Amino acid sequence: MDTPTGTQPTTAAGRWTALMAARRVPDEILAHAPASPYRQDPERFRPVAAPPDTPSRRAAVALLAASADRTVLDVGCGAGAASLALVGEARHVVGVDPASDMLAAFVAACLEWGMPYQGVLGSWPEALDDAGTAEVVLCHHVGYDTGDLAAFAAGLGAAARVGVVMEIHAEHPQAWLDPFFERFHGLRRPAPPTADDALAVLTELGVDPQVERWTAEVRPVEDPQARASRVTRRLCLPPERAGHVATALAAHDGPTAPPAERVTISWRP
Ligand SMILES: C[S@@+](CC[C@H](N)C(=O)[O-])C[C@H]1O[C@@H](n2cnc3c(N)ncnc32)[C@H](O)[C@@H]1O
Repeated sequence: MDTPTGTQPTTAAGRWTALMAARRVPDEILAHAPASPYRQDPERFRPVAAPPDTPSRRAAVALLAASADRTVLDVGCGAGAASLALVGEARHVVGVDPASDMLAAFVAACLEWGMPYQGVLGSWPEALDDAGTAEVVLCHHVGYDTGDLAAFAAGLGAAARVGVVMEIHAEHPQAWLDPFFERFHGLRRPAPPTADDALAVLTELGVDPQVERWTAEVRPVEDPQARASRVTRRLCLPPERAGHVATALAAHDGPTAPPAERVTISWRP
C-alpha cells in the first residue's frame, strides 16, 4: 500500500487515506458509468416507527441524558434513520448531507415525526461552520465514505458539546462487490480499511472511545430485480446488463450483501 508519492504511510490516518485511494474506481470506468455508482437510494435508509434498541441508540440516549438542551447533529443524515430513532429523546436535530434527495427525505421524515429540525446541504467536515455545534453528534455509516478520516472525525469531536456516536460496519460495506468488479471490469481492488483502522485513526487523534461490537438484524429480502439494477449501477454498468449481474449474483459462492457486524464508537470530546 503506497501513498501517492510512492512511500508507505507512517500514520494510521495516512494508512486510511492510502487504502481508500488505492480502491478508487478508475476514471475510465467511471467515464462509462451511465449513473453515479455512489448515489444511495433514500428509500433504503428511511427511519422506522419502532427503532431497534441498538448499542448506538443506547449510547446516544445516555449522552442526551447528560445534556442540557438535547440538541443533535446528524452528520451524513441520509433520510434520518439515526436521529429520528431519538424522537422523544432529542429536542432538535440538524441533519447534514451532500445528497439533496437524502436531505429532502430527512426533512420529510422530521415533518412526519414532529421533530424540530434544520437541514444543511453539504459535506463533512467542510459543513462544520454551517451546521454549528450540538450536544450530541451522530454519524452512522459515513466513515467509509471519506478518504480523510482524521479530519472527518476531528470535525465530529469539534462539533460535539457532550459526545459523539459513530456507527460503522466492522468491514467496508461495499467490499463484497470487489469480485464483481473483477469479473465485469477485470479490476482488482485492494482490501479496504476496516473498523480497526478507523479506531487506530481515533487513537492517533488522542480519542479513547468506548467501543461496542454487535450484529445487526438482517435486512428484509429485496426484490431480486430491484437488487440487480442497484448492483448494476454500483458496478458502473448500463441497465441492460442487469440480467448478467443477476445471474452472476445467483451463481456467486461468496457474500452478496454487506456483513451484519457493526461497531459503535462513542466518545466525549
Ligand atoms: C449509507 S448512508 C447512511 C445514512 C444514515 N446516516 C443512516 O445511517 O441511515 C451515507 C450517507 O452519508 C452521506 N455522505 C457521504 N459522504 C459524506 C460527507 N463527507 N459528509 C456528510 N455526509 C456524507 C451520503 O450522502 C449518504 O446520505
